Amino acid sequence: MKRLFTTLAVLFVGTITMATAQQANERPIYLDPDAPIEERVEDALSRMTLREKMAIIHAQSKFSAPGVPRLGISEIWCTDGPHGIRPEVMWDEWDQARWTNDSCIAYPALTCLAATWNRDCALSYGRSIGEEARFRDKDVLLGPGVNIYRTPLCGRNFEYMGEDPYLASEMVVPYVKGVQEQGVAACVKHYALNNEEQHRHTVDVSLSDRALREIYLPAFKAAVTEGGAWSLMGSYNKYRGTYACHNHRLLVEILKQEWGFDGAVISDWGGVHSTEEAIHNGLDMEFGTWTDGLREGASNAYDNYYMALPYLKLIESGEVGTEELDDKVRRVLRLTFRTAMNNDKPYGAMCSEAHSLAARQIAEEGIVLLKNHNNNLPIAPDAKRILVVGENAIKMMTVGGGSSSLKVKYECSPLDGIRNYYGDDVEVLYARGYVGDVTGDYNGVVTGQNLVDKRSPKRLIAEAVEMAREADHVIFIGGLNKSNNQDCEGTDRRSLDLPYNQDAVIEELAEVSDNLTVVFVSGNAVAMPWIDEVESVVQVWYLGSEAGNAIANVLSGEVNPSGKLPFTFGVKLEDYMAHAEGAKFPNPKKVFYHDGIFVGYRGFEKREIEPLFAFGHGLSYTTFEYSNLQLSATEAVAGNRIDETILEATVTITNRGDRAGKEVVQLYISDVESSVIRPKKELKGFEKVELQPGESKTITFSLTPEALAFYNENSSSWTVESGEYRVLISASSADIRLDKSFTLR
Ligand code: GLC
Repeated sequence: MKRLFTTLAVLFVGTITMATAQQANERPIYLDPDAPIEERVEDALSRMTLREKMAIIHAQSKFSAPGVPRLGISEIWCTDGPHGIRPEVMWDEWDQARWTNDSCIAYPALTCLAATWNRDCALSYGRSIGEEARFRDKDVLLGPGVNIYRTPLCGRNFEYMGEDPYLASEMVVPYVKGVQEQGVAACVKHYALNNEEQHRHTVDVSLSDRALREIYLPAFKAAVTEGGAWSLMGSYNKYRGTYACHNHRLLVEILKQEWGFDGAVISDWGGVHSTEEAIHNGLDMEFGTWTDGLREGASNAYDNYYMALPYLKLIESGEVGTEELDDKVRRVLRLTFRTAMNNDKPYGAMCSEAHSLAARQIAEEGIVLLKNHNNNLPIAPDAKRILVVGENAIKMMTVGGGSSSLKVKYECSPLDGIRNYYGDDVEVLYARGYVGDVTGDYNGVVTGQNLVDKRSPKRLIAEAVEMAREADHVIFIGGLNKSNNQDCEGTDRRSLDLPYNQDAVIEELAEVSDNLTVVFVSGNAVAMPWIDEVESVVQVWYLGSEAGNAIANVLSGEVNPSGKLPFTFGVKLEDYMAHAEGAKFPNPKKVFYHDGIFVGYRGFEKREIEPLFAFGHGLSYTTFEYSNLQLSATEAVAGNRIDETILEATVTITNRGDRAGKEVVQLYISDVESSVIRPKKELKGFEKVELQPGESKTITFSLTPEALAFYNENSSSWTVESGEYRVLISASSADIRLDKSFTLR
């Protein structure tokens, strides 16, 4: 009997031990990387205390949120910016932490990416910058920005993708996908209507629903519904009287309910102004609310955030429930399991050769040849002396401009790039030409350049002109920079004109040189009163680490330029409808977007104003012929789905020159007989093709009802009307090459 009891006891203890051991081996679901994310979310949520839930929906430092240490749920770390990974900052400061291993590759600014009109470039861009974020152990990349270019004075246009919602939509999707392949969340910004800087914290924007839907929201919608963005950043400004960071219509009704966004809405830094509104209007994570860190106030100043103790008190007093809190926590947990606790995420890479190559290829593809009289470019192969003039040939552009400022591994200047390319074969001389901004520091990152030059403008011009007389080719490199009231966050430009007396330099150089090329480093359009006096004009954007190499490759003809403008260059500021009829800008308080849907080329064409250079314009060193436009039918019927193909357009493109080149074939739709006023044409398709000399390719565009639709404010829905439509195959918005009509029944 005793043996029996002993046996039973051993069996019993063994069973318990096994069970305990088994239980100990059974990881909780939220820690099981193979468990479905939603199960992980619910399991983690069920284990969290109220205070733990409150903690993860707001920052614990300048760029991080705490996670749940007790449960082993990771922190979330964010980083700027859209063009490269920001240097590490102090715990609660904007100043850099002075690490020695956080220099990055600076990719071209997003206006350049948009100017490539190449979806593959956007994917390559997202993958490369996502790898750098992952390598730096960042979970959320605070970018890309896709605010629409409504006015050429907005200080942050250089961070965005131009004036057309279709182009921005098509380019943002691959960028988001490329970033998120690295287990890093894109945080598409600034949602929405952040189209000016000076008064961005106070301006209250209102506009027609049609303009909101047709112009300002499409790129955000595409990033969410096609790109699958895991996070989105609310903007500082108000929309219809309520701050965008907690705006029920934008965040709950449109973003989450209509578009089905399941990610996290992150405030812009300091964009939260109300606990009540943050609770009920769709904000999920609060960052950057004013706090001077741990020095003042409560034990932890972050407890004073709107979505911290004030929120906790409302719950503990019973004034609000926990339903909204649980939704926020679910979204933060989902973000965490997609990024920080995503066990499949790659390792990332930093400053690799592949990243430099990607940066240079995007830069080369984004450079736009605006004018090239007498084939002044590429620089003649027998040129023996080249003169480079201008501050932007030497000034570092990766430091400054606001939160997109970087600490780079290297930045090849235009002058260095040109000298490196030509080596000892050609004499490359330099003259300053003008003095702009000699500073070069941001958040503790310094360029180390000494650009001080005390000579008078007159002497600077005289030196350049004298040297130009003896040069075979003169390259003026100017434009804007990242200083206040240029291309810079938090400020807007004050005019369309070039700063620092550059017009005078260009005009005097034009007097003495018949081979003058003007190169603009900028993120915005500028006025060009001397345009008839110069042979060539090239728009080169802020190109980042590989700037000089890309510029030299295009000017020398090593690379055939293929960029197209993502926004219109007007002759004067009033040409832009946002500045018509004496409209005030910038707006400290309320602004109604009186221009409505007529932004960019839509507005120029409505008012029949000839642009200086049109949206979609860009020349090549070869020529292309467009032929044989065919429509698959002369009549079509709009089916039940707005995204189903109802008609195909095919067109043949031939390279008629003697060198290979890339062309962006653009398809615009014109609604001939609509019941509402519509733009004369709207971009609804584009394809970039590379052709060898003499080579032809046929491109097929699939047309859907979505391409024909307008937003009907009466029915608050997208409407497709029967009637006649024109398919315009173009080399730019102002250069229609082929045109055919069809009827929609
Ligand atoms: C800034 C910018 C935003 C940036 C954030 C963090 O104010 O508006 O684009 O990502 O703060 O630096």
